[in-house]
Amino acid sequence: MMPSTEDPDTRPLFELIEVEKLYMVRRPGSMFSTAKVGLPALDGVRLKIRKGSSVAIVGESGSGKSTLLRVLLGLTRPTEGRALYQGRPIAEVRAEGRDFARQVAMIYQDARGSLNPRMTIAALIAEPLHHFAICPPAEVPARVRSLLARVGLPAEVASRYPAALSGGQVRRVAIARALASEPTVLVADEAVSGLDVSTQAQLLNLLRRLQREMALTLVFITHDLGVASYLCDDIAIMYLGRIVETGPTNAVLNAPAHPYARALRRAAPEFFEPITAPLPGEIPSPLDLPPGCRFSGRCDRVEPDCHLSDPALLRLGGPTPNRAAACFHPLADTPTVPHKRDLHA
Ligand SMILES: Nc1ncnc2c1ncn2[C@@H]1O[C@H](COP(=O)(O)OP(=O)(O)OP(=O)(O)O)[C@@H](O)[C@H]1O
Ligand code: SF4
Ligand SMILES: [Mg+2]
Repeated sequence: MMPSTEDPDTRPLFELIEVEKLYMVRRPGSMFSTAKVGLPALDGVRLKIRKGSSVAIVGESGSGKSTLLRVLLGLTRPTEGRALYQGRPIAEVRAEGRDFARQVAMIYQDARGSLNPRMTIAALIAEPLHHFAICPPAEVPARVRSLLARVGLPAEVASRYPAALSGGQVRRVAIARALASEPTVLVADEAVSGLDVSTQAQLLNLLRRLQREMALTLVFITHDLGVASYLCDDIAIMYLGRIVETGPTNAVLNAPAHPYARALRRAAPEFFEPITAPLPGEIPSPLDLPPGCRFSGRCDRVEPDCHLSDPALLRLGGPTPNRAAACFHPLADTPTVPHKRDLHA
């Protein structure tokens, strides 16, 4: 595929264009049959991520957040559409060698599970330093000490094993490991969930400081709107494989345009509280989506035209730039701009 002709200085770092990911799964109700059907984990996803920006990916369980992350990391190839890094297909860039893996670091949700329990913390942090030949071997111990200090861990943890660390400390080790390769992009899947509020706040402060100091591009999956608002300038809200609203985080959360975004916001009345109240209605199976808009069965603004076709993610009018929603009847005074190409500009 030809590289993008966009100016390298202004083109997005990542761009997903009509990305679809189908997982082939057994047909429901056919326990003894091998017949398979395609489950659309991602369906027509469009997203641009600018260098140095911070983007939260938010949505209910099963909405496709982790699949989207896997596409960004080049671990999953889209079934349809294009997934680009600096204008080139991610899979192609990844296949070229270690540089992409060095630039784009991942913090896994299960931080403890991602660390070998038989390695000391020093060895775990040294591993990417050796793998990517970040510094001469003689300098590795000093680098490890400096990375530990950067994530706020005392030097004495270097000789311990993961089992001897608290949950918050283990997350810090995972962040130190991710930073070891001197990445420009940090991708995190629920990196602070399941921790007590004060540990979560410490880690969020750490991530925010690192993002600013190192000018990192941050892609952060969370189900917590408070975390999204604190950490990320931009937000992408997903519903059943689609991005249904994007824009500057606080503008979107203060005045959501998509009824689903509003429902999420209402389910989390206090920032820094995870979404606890269930949204109204049942989430449909991705194998049996309703005709037209996939949110129509749960939407309090549904109109007859919502059943006719699937709304595209269109740029919204209104005072805040760069907002887009996939809804025929968006909330707030933000009429959609009838412009086909320039989505989530
Ligand atoms: N390897 C797979 N094979 C088949 N289906 C899958 C696979 N991975 C994910 N799915 C399905 O794809 C959809 C999206 O899954 P995904 O893990 O991306 O959601 P998620 O938003 O990350 O959810 P959660 O918040 O629970 O982590 C779900 O319906 C899920 O069951
Ligand atoms: S398109 Fe219609 S059903 Fe879908 S979210 Fe908008 S108003 Fe609701
Ligand atoms: Mg997930």
